[in-house]
Amino acid sequence: MNLLKQAKTLKDGVRDAYDVKRRKLRTVAILVTDRCMSRCKHCFIWNKKDNNDLSPEVIERQILDSDVISKDTYFELTGGEFLDHPQYEEILALFSEGGYDYMMLTNGMYPDQAIEAVRKYKVPNLYMSLDGLGETYKKVRGVDCADNVVRIIDELKDEVPIFLGYTICPWNGVEDLEAVKRLCEEKGVEFFIGAYQNPEFFDTTKPGGKISHEHEPYLSEFMRLHNPWMEQQVKIPCWNINTKCYIMGSGDVHLCQQKSLVLGNLHDKTLGEIWESDEVRAIHRKYRECNDCWLACNRPFDAQLAHAGSSFLPRPILNKWLGEYTWDAVDAAYKNGS
Ligand SMILES: C[S@@+](CC[C@H](N)C(=O)[O-])C[C@H]1O[C@@H](n2cnc3c(N)ncnc32)[C@H](O)[C@@H]1O
Ligand code: SF4
Ligand code: SF4
Repeated sequence: MNLLKQAKTLKDGVRDAYDVKRRKLRTVAILVTDRCMSRCKHCFIWNKKDNNDLSPEVIERQILDSDVISKDTYFELTGGEFLDHPQYEEILALFSEGGYDYMMLTNGMYPDQAIEAVRKYKVPNLYMSLDGLGETYKKVRGVDCADNVVRIIDELKDEVPIFLGYTICPWNGVEDLEAVKRLCEEKGVEFFIGAYQNPEFFDTTKPGGKISHEHEPYLSEFMRLHNPWMEQQVKIPCWNINTKCYIMGSGDVHLCQQKSLVLGNLHDKTLGEIWESDEVRAIHRKYRECNDCWLACNRPFDAQLAHAGSSFLPRPILNKWLGEYTWDAVDAAYKNGS
């Protein structure tokens, strides 16, 4: 690691460790609805019956007005499909008029609405999924919307930071990843890679597997640890749950994206009351030991913090303070990536 990178790793590590210790809720993901008109093979949220939509009133009263939320809190507004929420405009108005920092996630099925919403509500960040182009997109998602995603990029790329998420899954291959990566480079938008797993809420049918070796040159340090994690060669503490939670359309607050473990419901308590309760503190302590997922929406925080700790603290101290984890495996992935 060069000196600049070392200094950044140390600075971020100290900040992250402090936030974990004081359980600062940094990011709140709100799955405002479980409605979705896509037909994905890697996620069956679209197949849920008796849909739930979180109302703007509950979002305002039980989340935004709650004392664990500040202007530093980052929100991920997602679903299901965010734009399938019958009151998505009211929700965007709440966040934009309140001056919150957030990202709107969409599958790109509604390009007119997406473009208009970004402009009207000055959405600060836009995330769209693109798991392949043309036939691959249709194969993965069961609908034909890749061109919509490209159109939204073309119309909005100079107006809003765009993040394109590619999920490596059993229905796409490295040539699809390369095509989407090229598109991102051409259009000047950020490219993110995640990998197929089995979050309980997604009702997946096929078990997750290893990422094939042709993908390796494209993987981040974190994603390079996916296969070793699958082989049970990577075990690090789960710290991110002290800084992030998932809120569902039903008002249930979930521990993380992987586990539908309910911390409380917003129709009974505010987010602050749930977050600060003794029961939830105990759950967070218990799941510190959990290593049951390697999801790109939860665990990069843990890998980065493990890397920071193991870069600056001797192993005996780490093991004494935190327990015996696979510090060397994390270090190796991050060293090879620098
Ligand atoms: C659940 S979607 C919600 C937002 C929006 N409906 C979309 O598709 O972008 C959020 C992200 O999760 C990814 N995803 C879906 N199924 C997954 C799975 N089984 N494992 C990991 N990521 C998955 C999607 O590709 C997408 O990038
Ligand atoms: S990945 Fe997104 S678009 Fe596909 S079913 Fe899940 S929520 Fe819907
Ligand atoms: S490691 Fe366990 S507790 Fe942590 S995010 Fe994954 S499933 Fe949730």
